Amino acid sequence: MRRNIEHVGWDQLSYEIREIVAIGEDLEKLGVDITWENIGDPVQKGEKIPQWIKDIVTDLVAEDKTYGYVATQGVPETREFLAAQINKRDGYRVTKDDIVFFNGLGDAVAKIFSYLRREARVLGPSPAYSTHSSAEAAHSGYHHLTYDLVPENNWMPDLDDIENKIKYNDSIAGLLLINPDNPTGAVYPRHLLEQIIGIAKEYDIFVICDEIYAHIVFNGSETVHLSQVIGDVPGIALRGISKEFPWPGSRCGWLEVFNQDKHPVFKKYIQSLISAKMLEVCSTSLPQYAIPRVIGDPRYEQHLADRKAMFEFRANEAWNIFSKVDGIHVIKPKGAFYMSILFKDNILNNKQALPISDVKVKAFVEQKVQDVEDDKRFVYYLLGAKGICVVPLTGFYSNRKGFRITLLEMDDEKRRWTWETIADSINQYINS
Ligand SMILES: Cc1ncc(COP(=O)(O)O)c(C=O)c1O
Repeated sequence: MRRNIEHVGWDQLSYEIREIVAIGEDLEKLGVDITWENIGDPVQKGEKIPQWIKDIVTDLVAEDKTYGYVATQGVPETREFLAAQINKRDGYRVTKDDIVFFNGLGDAVAKIFSYLRREARVLGPSPAYSTHSSAEAAHSGYHHLTYDLVPENNWMPDLDDIENKIKYNDSIAGLLLINPDNPTGAVYPRHLLEQIIGIAKEYDIFVICDEIYAHIVFNGSETVHLSQVIGDVPGIALRGISKEFPWPGSRCGWLEVFNQDKHPVFKKYIQSLISAKMLEVCSTSLPQYAIPRVIGDPRYEQHLADRKAMFEFRANEAWNIFSKVDGIHVIKPKGAFYMSILFKDNILNNKQALPISDVKVKAFVEQKVQDVEDDKRFVYYLLGAKGICVVPLTGFYSNRKGFRITLLEMDDEKRRWTWETIADSINQYINS
C-alpha cells in the first residue's frame, strides 16, 4: 500500500480475559470440558435478575419511546436523577450536564483515551484492568505507565510510587484509580483517596476513578465515592449497571464529571468526549430509561445488600480454601467479585507441569507453554489438565506472577469443586 495504515499503538491492545478464551475453545474441540472462570459476567455464571427489575424493563419495552434515539449525553430525566443522587448523597453540586452516557464503560474508556492529547499520559495501577491499560497505551503509542498496587499492604496503591512518577514525568496529566479494584478485590478507604487527591492537586492533574463496583463492598470495608473527596480537583467517576443490576449486555455506563467549570482545558476535553458521542448520535436508550425506575425503587437497596452478603460469603469461602495452600499469597477480597492469587517469589519455573492423560491435549498444552510467562504456563496446564480457565496476572499489566479467580459461580457445589481443584493443582504443580 502506498501509505502505512497501521496505527502506532495498536500492538498495545490486549485483553487477556478474552484472549485466554481462544485457548479454552481449542481445548474444548479436543474434548476438554471447560469451566469458564475468566470473565466478570454474573449472568453468564448463573445469577438471576430479580423479577421486579425484569418487570420494569418489560414495561419499558412496551413503550415506543425506548426504541428511539435519545439526547447525545443521555436521557435528560435520567441524568437529572443521577445528579440529584450525587448531590443528596455527597452534598456535591453537579447538574445533568455533568453526566454523559456511553455504551458501557468500555465505550467510555475508548473515548477517554482516544480524545486525550497524544502526549498527555494517564498513570494507572498495576495490576491493571486491561481495557484501561491497553487504551491508554494505544493512545500514547508507548507502554502504559503504572504505579504499584502492593500485595503486602492489602493491594493498596504505593503512594510514594505515585508521587515520584508524577513528579519526575511531566507528561503525566491524569491519574487512574479503580475502586473497588479489578483484579485484586481491594477497596480504598477515605483517607487513602484523600491523600491521592492531595497529590493530584499538588501536581495539577486530573483524576479518573472507575467506580463500576462502588456498591459491591463487604467484609467490613468502607469507601467513598470520588465526589466525596474530589474537592476542586478536575475529576471523572465512571459508573455503570453491568455489575450492579447486573446487566452487562445492556452496554450502559456513564461519566460523572466534577469541576469542569473551574478548569477550562478540562471542560474542553469533556466537550471533545461529548462531540465524539454526537457523531454516534447517542448511547443505547432502553437501559437509560430503566435506571431511575430501578435505582429509585425501594427494593434496590435490599438488592444491593443481598448481593454484598453473597459476595462476602464467597470471598471468605475462597480465602479459607486458598489461604491453606503453600507457595501462594492471598488477600481476602473486600469488594468487587474477584480475588488475585499470587505465587510467592521464585516458586515457579519453566519445568513445572500438571499430568495430562489425553495425548492430544498434552501435546497442545506443551506447545502453548513455549516461551510464556511462568504464571501463564500454570494457567495453560490448569486448563489442559482440569479444564478450569482463569486469567494469569501478567495479563493484567503486571510483573507479579499469579492469576485471578471470580466469586461469581452460583452453583455452590461447582464453585467449591473449582476452587478446591485449583488449590490441589497449585500444590501438585509447584511440587512437580
Ligand atoms: C473495572 C472495570 N471497569 C469497566 C468494566 C467494563 O464495564 P462495561 O460493561 O460498562 O463496559 C469492567 C468489566 O469487567 C471492569 O472490571
